[in-house]
Amino acid sequence: MSVDENGYIDGYIVALQRRGGICHIVSIAVRKDCRRQHVASILLQSLFELCDVSQPRLYILEVDIRNMGAQVLYAKHGFGYAGLIPNYYGSERHALVMVKIPAWKC
Ligand SMILES: CC(C)(COP(=O)(O)OP(=O)(O)OC[C@H]1O[C@@H](n2cnc3c(N)ncnc32)[C@H](O)[C@@H]1OP(=O)(O)O)[C@@H](O)C(=O)NCCC(=O)NCCS
Repeated sequence: MSVDENGYIDGYIVALQRRGGICHIVSIAVRKDCRRQHVASILLQSLFELCDVSQPRLYILEVDIRNMGAQVLYAKHGFGYAGLIPNYYGSERHALVMVKIPAWKC
């Protein structure tokens, strides 16, 4: 969660630690008047730093095929396309699956 100087929430991210070292980003959103100020980027970066301790093998998320802004955001943070789920958000509303594989650490 990101909070401004007045205590209002700028944005949030929800992620679940799945079995097998998979971190599933379930939801991320930023208040309309706070967008394009890198709030989502900071939230994603914070998540990566938090998860780094448990060394996830994979980050995975679904994004609406029409949501180009979010796809650009994820691509900038190292996500690539891994598949398509037809009708995931409802009739004719398809999802793209995007994944990020963190650098291997010994
Ligand atoms: C998608 C969302 C979370 C992005 O949040 P944000 O704080 O504005 O994102 P950032 O400022 O960190 O964006 C980082 C980069 O991603 C890209 N980006 C983000 N939003 C974009 C948009 N609407 N159009 C094009 N590129 C976009 C840009 O390259 C941006 O860098 P720049 O502003 O320097 O050009 C926000 O628009 C949102 O809450 N949308 C509604 C909910 C939603 O779609 N969530 C994702 C569900 S999968």
